[in-house]
Amino acid sequence: MGRSLPPALLVLLPVLLRGGEASPRRSPSLQSPAGACGRRPAVNELATGSRIIGGRDAPPGAWPWQVSLQIHHIPVGYRHICGGSLISHNLVLTAAHCIKNNRDPEMWRVVIGMHHLYKDYPYTVKNQVKDILIHSHFELATNENDVALFKLIKPVKYNAYIQPICLPETSLLLTDETPCYISGWGSTKENGVGEHILQEAQVDIIPLRICNKFDWYAGAISLNTICAGSASGNVDSCQGDSGGPLVCYFPNASRYYLLGITSAGVGCGRPKYPGLYVRTANYRNWIDSQLLNKAISVNIQFVLFFLTAGRMLLHNVL
Ligand code: ARG
Repeated sequence: MGRSLPPALLVLLPVLLRGGEASPRRSPSLQSPAGACGRRPAVNELATGSRIIGGRDAPPGAWPWQVSLQIHHIPVGYRHICGGSLISHNLVLTAAHCIKNNRDPEMWRVVIGMHHLYKDYPYTVKNQVKDILIHSHFELATNENDVALFKLIKPVKYNAYIQPICLPETSLLLTDETPCYISGWGSTKENGVGEHILQEAQVDIIPLRICNKFDWYAGAISLNTICAGSASGNVDSCQGDSGGPLVCYFPNASRYYLLGITSAGVGCGRPKYPGLYVRTANYRNWIDSQLLNKAISVNIQFVLFFLTAGRMLLHNVL
């Protein structure tokens, strides 16, 4: 009898292994297609104004999924390191290279619903981090798989200034007319300093066959990357914008979708060297599997706990 499981546990095992919530696609922490995402209750659905050269101050609430990832610094409190995008009540998608110097969740906080980096608004939420999940094939040297997830300790409530962004579905059809935008508190020029008011800019999606031309990125850009900006280099992201969103508006769905994660670039705003963004659509499985792995590992811990408890009980009884 020593090694066999108690009958009650055998009945419980499949339930524990499957995970309380079943598959992550149906888990409440992930957005459902019909659920609230990609909407901007505080401003017009479509960003107003025509082409933006460089960037401009975003109106408050314009990018309600934009978060600031901040790290604890002893004399100054917290410092903005990277951007990120809220994808559900408790998940923020960002770039893996943002965490290269500090992987300890306790050192970070996530600030959601912000406009000016150093001002608090009634709707601003500051959240501690429970877990940081980094893509296991992230490579710092090449920026391949530059994806990470921050799991928040406390789920955040949505309001007009805090909303999740939709993750792309394969059926999204991007045309030359699809308006796409970047946002962030990063530098407004190469080697510059960060902005205090959230900046926004409209960008062109640049096809890989152009981006990979020999006098552009010369074939170095993979299918997991989106090039965006402008051919002349006037519009771009820069240091401090990393991890933040590249979103496009799809009028048929009346929603914004997270097409990319700000990742890298040669300099900032240089002609023929547009910004490089992680192609989010290629990482949907990774995002889902991360949540599933977590659920399984928690359940295995449960099983181990029950096994040990069961064995101890048997020892005491026999
Ligand atoms: N790696 C930068 C960061 O950590 C973002 C660089 C984006 N560069 C560009 N030219 N678009 O903030």
